[in-house]
Amino acid sequence: MRKNLVLVGAPGSGKGTQAAKLVSDLGYEHVSTGDLLRAEIAKGSELGLKVKSVMDAGQLVSDDLVAELLKANLHLGSKNYIFDGYPRNLAQAKTLESILGGSEYQVVYFEIETNSLVERITNRRVTPDGKHIYNLLTKPPKVPGICDVTGEKLVQRKDDTEEVVRNRMKVFHDAIDPMLDYYKKLGKLNKVDAKGRVEEIYKIIRELVD
Ligand code: AP5
Repeated sequence: MRKNLVLVGAPGSGKGTQAAKLVSDLGYEHVSTGDLLRAEIAKGSELGLKVKSVMDAGQLVSDDLVAELLKANLHLGSKNYIFDGYPRNLAQAKTLESILGGSEYQVVYFEIETNSLVERITNRRVTPDGKHIYNLLTKPPKVPGICDVTGEKLVQRKDDTEEVVRNRMKVFHDAIDPMLDYYKKLGKLNKVDAKGRVEEIYKIIRELVD
């Protein structure tokens, strides 16, 4: 069995893009807490109603709510997981360590100047479930507005406006350092330069995983 992978990085640093390639090539299960939360909002569940305004503003949902949602979507022991967007702070990193118990994992930190990410994110378009990710500048769909794979209409996430993105970056910067220190001490931290092309970054991650 492969080790579980934990993808950590600023909004728009490319976690979801790389996760999709790893899932398709290596058969990992992809758990994105952002996708899980957006699915709750789309369902109109009690949890979805609670978290909608928090997410629309680019703030973090409470640690307890996200941990519960995460646990409900894991079947540890039978599958290898990619965690995308969880953890986002030290408390969540410790929670994940306890959830994973003895299961092995390594952390990949997508290192990139966040100033360059606002343009990336405001040009992102996705399928409604977030599984297929495009970019109007760097990876446009063949037919404008339509997913190449599923034929669905592409959408822009509500939190992908410039104002909310800037707030998400601040939230990211406020919490990242203690978490990275924690993983460094555990000997699990791998850093990847996330400025390059998608294929180059993928190659580096594959070297880590293989
Ligand atoms: P979430 O959905 O997790 O968003 P995020 O972490 O902000 O990350 P993104 O999905 O924006 O970016 P990404 O790194 O996946 O980039 P992508 O590959 O799409 O979280 C949303 C919200 O949910 C949070 O704000 C919070 O409210 C809540 N939440 C989620 N998890 C939580 C938690 N654990 N605790 C509390 N609250 C939580 O790429 C971005 C764009 O760039 C795309 O258009 C892509 O095509 C393009 N691109 C990707 N790679 C490259 C490249 N190398 N070069 C050029 N363009 C590229």
